[in-house]
Amino acid sequence: MKDMTAVILAAGKGTRMRSGTPKVLHEVLGRPMLRYVIDAVKGAGISNIIVVIGHGSAAVRDLLKTEGVTVVEQKKLLGSGDAVMTAKKALGSYAGDILVICGDTPLIRKETVQSIIEKHKSSGASATILTAILKDPTGYGRIVRGSDGRITKIVEDQEASLYEEVIEEINVGTYCFRAADLFAALGRTNDDNKKKEYFLTDAIGVFHRNNKPIESATAEDKSEIIGINSRKDLACATQIMKARVLDGIMAGGVTVQDPLSTVIYPDVSIGQDTVIYSNTVIQSDVTIGSSCKIGPFARIRPGVVIGDRVEVGNFVELVKTRIGDDTKVKHHTYLGNATVGKKVNVGAGTITANFNGRKKSETIIEDGAFIGVGAIFVAPVKVGKEAVVGAGCVVLKNHDVPRKATAVGVPSRILKKK
Ligand code: UD1
Ligand code: CA
Repeated sequence: MKDMTAVILAAGKGTRMRSGTPKVLHEVLGRPMLRYVIDAVKGAGISNIIVVIGHGSAAVRDLLKTEGVTVVEQKKLLGSGDAVMTAKKALGSYAGDILVICGDTPLIRKETVQSIIEKHKSSGASATILTAILKDPTGYGRIVRGSDGRITKIVEDQEASLYEEVIEEINVGTYCFRAADLFAALGRTNDDNKKKEYFLTDAIGVFHRNNKPIESATAEDKSEIIGINSRKDLACATQIMKARVLDGIMAGGVTVQDPLSTVIYPDVSIGQDTVIYSNTVIQSDVTIGSSCKIGPFARIRPGVVIGDRVEVGNFVELVKTRIGDDTKVKHHTYLGNATVGKKVNVGAGTITANFNGRKKSETIIEDGAFIGVGAIFVAPVKVGKEAVVGAGCVVLKNHDVPRKATAVGVPSRILKKK
């Protein structure tokens, strides 16, 4: 979309989070909330994106390095209106429309961003505001409408009168503006409020007074609009995102035995007829095949690829590991940087010692191998096809177990064939 530039507001301190970490870097299911907002904006078809970050926020800048966005710094946090003003320079002579969106609303969907853009374009308004109706509007700016139903202003929670406080229509914090009208309006706002901030929302009253047409679009799904200001909001958003991910996984033909105790991050693919048992955590960048049994109490970390009909049981932790079809890893096991073949049985309590304090090394266990309980593999090491590793065996690094051989003892030795 060429005729739309997005400005993402991400400079706020997030005082109510009580944190040393900038608010927009707090994670929802393993991803900083700002990334969700960027994805929604990109998903809506906008490629020209400006992100306003707080002065000296090296960590936020770091996250944005690979996002292909323009970063501008708001030197003093004088409010959301001032933050938008900061982006003006980066816009240069651009005179089209601007989408303004808050970096602390990670649940907003790309379809919703698209719908406000469409409304804005088709109505030809100067400003279009995304609103929602909430039973409890506390904390949000209220949409004030005149007797003709048209928006006259937005009043912030702390500034609202008794009559305005009860308004259930709130400002989500996502807007489309004609650039020139927006900057002209912002130029006429002040910081005459309890927070002593320049509110972006005060520009709406200026639009109204100058007879600039204001429209609104409605967010039907209220779960999308939550703005994260506190740890409690963060927990709430995480629950919503978690339910969304699980819905998608279940729609794909996966049984999730106990959704309440199961956590699956975004970017996880799970094949049909796999069953996820209770208290399982599956992080991003994981692929699981079909007809597997995972959990209860399994933890699958990034970089794991699991084949079909695999069983991963209780208290098993996997990271950066591939597991072939029909393999069983059923109890109390840690596999890191491992490649396990097909039809392997990994006994209870098997551990890969993949880290020597300096670097990570690989463990390879080939097809059909049988690993006895409590085996320890000091990587790098390889177990050949159909080899047997005895119970309690410690296989030291580079002491590979040949194909069909049997290794026993501490450290391991290969039994001679009779
Ligand atoms: C804001 C809106 C409110 C809306 C709510 C939706 C204003 C004045 N109010 O309130 O109407 O209902 O969001 O969640 O905008 N920011 C900066 N620089 C600053 C201050 C803020 O970049 O100096 C950014 C923040 O990072 C955030 C956004 O602006 O992304 C909104 O600021 P925040 O303080 O969270 O405003 P709210 O009180 O939540
Ligand atoms: Ca907010």
